[in-house]
Amino acid sequence: MILPQKHSATGTTIFTVMSALAQQHNAINLSQGFPDFPIDERLAALLGEAASTGYNQYSPMPGLPMLRQAIANDFKKRYDLKVDADNEVTITPGATYAIYAAFTSVLQSGDEAIVLEPAYDSYIPNIEMNGAKAVPVPLAAPTFNVDWDRVKAAISPRTKAIIINTPHNPTGATWTREDWDTLADILRGTDIAVLSDEVYEQIIFDGKEHYTVLQHEELRQRSFALFSFGKVFHNTGWKIGYCIAPPMLTQAFRRIHQFLSFAVNTPAQYALAQYLATAHDGLIWKMMQQKRDYFLELMQQTPFTIHRPAGGSYFQVAGYEHISDMPDLEFAKWLTETCGVATIPVSPFYSNKQDDKLVRFCFAKKEETLKAAVGRLMSLKEARITS
Ligand SMILES: Cc1ncc(COP(=O)(O)O)c(C=O)c1O
Repeated sequence: MILPQKHSATGTTIFTVMSALAQQHNAINLSQGFPDFPIDERLAALLGEAASTGYNQYSPMPGLPMLRQAIANDFKKRYDLKVDADNEVTITPGATYAIYAAFTSVLQSGDEAIVLEPAYDSYIPNIEMNGAKAVPVPLAAPTFNVDWDRVKAAISPRTKAIIINTPHNPTGATWTREDWDTLADILRGTDIAVLSDEVYEQIIFDGKEHYTVLQHEELRQRSFALFSFGKVFHNTGWKIGYCIAPPMLTQAFRRIHQFLSFAVNTPAQYALAQYLATAHDGLIWKMMQQKRDYFLELMQQTPFTIHRPAGGSYFQVAGYEHISDMPDLEFAKWLTETCGVATIPVSPFYSNKQDDKLVRFCFAKKEETLKAAVGRLMSLKEARITS
């Protein structure tokens, strides 16, 4: 059989590669973005309660009404935004799935979609799986600000979507109101849809506030805003996310969703609905800010360079120019095997594998994990390794 190549990505994702290498070498894993601390016991108990009180069959296609309503209430509480639980919210099996379903809702064969790079690794394959072409626009290291002239230049009559990610993986950069205004100016008069990947919306530092595309009245009309409970409640393995979009876009999204997974894990939806309605204090950023600050302080004792502290997300990018001149992938593998700390090289986040000699650390870890990892990195202080 000759099977079609549905997208251009080859091999296994870098996250799988580095996590497997970490395991093989018994390294401390600061590579993949998942927390190593437990979820709230109350949330765990609610999952058990759901299973024992009968929440075990298919949920309605758009998601359990109680969860969609809890999300609408949450957006009212946190952003003072009106969200219509019936016509604007769809529950999905994770944000990655929601991104795919949103792209599939708007893209046809031959269309183009703009991706700001470095980018989360599913975006480009998802575009290509729809027969469309990804048009990458680089963000310039080490600040990773948007070059708006390049965004404008990337737009063609075939452009049907642009995907934004704030707070950003892997760089931790965040968008301001001005960024959204500039995007609105550029998109006005076009029929380009915005996919706004906001899975780290509640992890934002230094007194800043997350600015969701839903707060931008003009852009909201053309946007799919995509979220993940996994990042908020430390339960990435539950794989529950959601999409908020205006009714017309939600209808298109659900036309795809009903023939992809149709429904989403019912007991998890019940547990999240109860939890969100009662206990959620929206203060996850506080815990993550402490972790980021702790990690950055520790990192000062190592030869890594922090060009720009993460403004959000749970990732910190660092330069290793004082340690080695190896390409980043080689360096990350070497660091795992020799030093016992796994990171993610940044070049796989670019379609042209641009190598700015940076690696990404995930600091959503217990203090003892961070301390042990940086303890190992301190041994590099006097070393300079060449390839
Ligand atoms: C930018 C970004 N989007 C989406 C996701 C995936 O979210 P989920 O686990 O809900 O599919 C991640 C997870 O790492 C991410 O970093």
